[in-house]
Amino acid sequence: MTMQIKSWEAYQSAYRCSVADPEGFWAEQAKSFVWRKPWSKVLEWEFDTPRVQWFIDGKLNITENCLDRHLPQRAQQPAIIWEPNDPNAPNRVLTYGELYEAVNKTANALKANGIGKGDRVCFYMPMVPELAIGVLACARIGAVHSVVFAGFSAAALADRIKDAACKMVICSDFNNRGAKHIPVKAVVDEALQMGCDSVQTVLVHRNTGDDIAWMPARDKWWHEQVDSQPSECPAEVMDSEDMLFILYTSGSTGKPKGVVHTIGGYMVYTCFTFRNVFQYQEGDIYWCTADIGWITGHSYIVYGPLLAGATTMMFEGVPTWPDPGRFWQIVEKYKVNQFYTAPTAIRALMAHGDEWVEKYDLSSLKVIGSVGEPINEEAWRWYHDKVGRGKAPIVDTWWQTETGGIMISPIPGATDTKPCYASYPMPGIQPVLVDAAGNEIEGNDVEGLLCIKFPWPSILRTTYGDHARCKQTYFAPFPGKYFTGDGARRDAEGRYRIIGRVDDVINVSGHRIGTAEVENAINEHPLVVESAVVGFPHPIKGQGIYAFVIVQGQIADTAQFEQEVRQVVSRVIGPIAKPDYIHIAPGLPKTRSGKIMRRILRKIASGDTENLGDTSTLLNPEVVEALIASAKAAH
Ligand code: WT7
Repeated sequence: MTMQIKSWEAYQSAYRCSVADPEGFWAEQAKSFVWRKPWSKVLEWEFDTPRVQWFIDGKLNITENCLDRHLPQRAQQPAIIWEPNDPNAPNRVLTYGELYEAVNKTANALKANGIGKGDRVCFYMPMVPELAIGVLACARIGAVHSVVFAGFSAAALADRIKDAACKMVICSDFNNRGAKHIPVKAVVDEALQMGCDSVQTVLVHRNTGDDIAWMPARDKWWHEQVDSQPSECPAEVMDSEDMLFILYTSGSTGKPKGVVHTIGGYMVYTCFTFRNVFQYQEGDIYWCTADIGWITGHSYIVYGPLLAGATTMMFEGVPTWPDPGRFWQIVEKYKVNQFYTAPTAIRALMAHGDEWVEKYDLSSLKVIGSVGEPINEEAWRWYHDKVGRGKAPIVDTWWQTETGGIMISPIPGATDTKPCYASYPMPGIQPVLVDAAGNEIEGNDVEGLLCIKFPWPSILRTTYGDHARCKQTYFAPFPGKYFTGDGARRDAEGRYRIIGRVDDVINVSGHRIGTAEVENAINEHPLVVESAVVGFPHPIKGQGIYAFVIVQGQIADTAQFEQEVRQVVSRVIGPIAKPDYIHIAPGLPKTRSGKIMRRILRKIASGDTENLGDTSTLLNPEVVEALIASAKAAH
């Protein structure tokens, strides 16, 4: 197993060693895994192209490390515990032995359906064990998984299927989530009418048993394909730098990009960070409430925990159904030891009052985690006092889809915690703060743009099909460094506090949404001439979406119009991107070169119009007054 840090001294020494001799440090961690052939060189890199390679020439299969190597000691130990949406329905427990068999059978079924090494397979599924089984089955045979969060629309799904030219889509029939009964296969059917020519097969997992439309030439039942397969499937021997998965994420411009992670480095880093951040001990029950459709689910529900031989939970439902005590009822039921969730969930539950959390026995919790967005002090204190009962340390973990694993976080028992601070970098992570001109800001008690100046094993390798975009987004802004898109502050002792995105990305309930994407969607409405979307502080979601919309002529029924705009966004992207506010605006503040001044729009959307800063470069200053006046009317 990779090293587990247990004291401040051990952290300092590991960190020092990881900076002085990164290759030696990571080689030591990598040695604890099963390799078919060892690497010949640990690292080669330059951030200009960019080109980063870890564990060069190493051959392995990540599923042998997640499954096979655990069988001698853990065949009977639960690998995945699945808690259904309905608290009265039976749960499912898959031991390492059972998960091994399910993955192998599924891998054989994929092969039988023409999927092989390098082929892309898209998943559009709710939180059921088959999703985890399916992605591992891909990894077993060297196919590349591309999981699309099942809340995205058919159009968004089609974009992602086409971008990666997926050969197969795996989905469920329907999904039960809270009180909702959501068609899943129907969305896939709709997406596949949008020119997804690469797709040959749709593999359908029977989840609820509801009736669905069927295309006999294309659609196949999971159980019919999988159940009769042999329970051994030889693991494909893969290269360290072969692709493991693609995961789409939003940026400030254009369509979502497919972030590419490769096998060797991702394996070493997710296991290492899982063991250290959560201080997982033999026999612990670990629960991350994320969806596998996001990177948190990939790294800290599936790969990290299974690599570490942990028991990882999957929850099908939502925090507030059937009541706001659901999370805590589950913690009590399974005696969960590590609990990992998002600030938006904490704030939503906090708003329902303390009675729900006080009703349950949470004494099993040893570490509680936060991820996805900045956690405000009030939520941090509530989480600490009510959920952690003042005893379980909070790990505020900062990282990104692109970083593959946790970058900055406390290590319980080794480093301290401080409200709102992700605190110290993990071993191997070399953060720097720079100013807008790219000059490194040295010393402590300073603020700047957060960059990382040395590669870590799970750094993204490219954006699928567009390496130039990877360079332009992450490596060109500050040559020689990886740019995170976040602003941060470093306190007097060197702890980091993440302030938030400095680009045109909005973080809504921990979901990354590109303003350009929402604008493009809104502009599809026939009466919209132009739109500008910004984030504003939202008490539960962290940030909300505020859309300034310029329309053609007069809108007779504004309520109807707003509803139509929301519907368009829902259709093009998905319900998560629906604007909270739609402001029918008289105009947009623009510079003489025609650029929208978003800085001013952000202030208006936040109701912070006392000091708008420098407006001297505005082409149309009069529009600002009109916007402020109409914004007041809109709120
Ligand atoms: C962005 C990345 C990493 C998994 C989930 C989100 C924000 C993430 C924190 C944190 C403050 C955070 C950043 C980052 N973020 N964690 N602990 N404190 N902000 O992954 O969708 O790729 O989003 O989420 O702004 O850049 P993602």
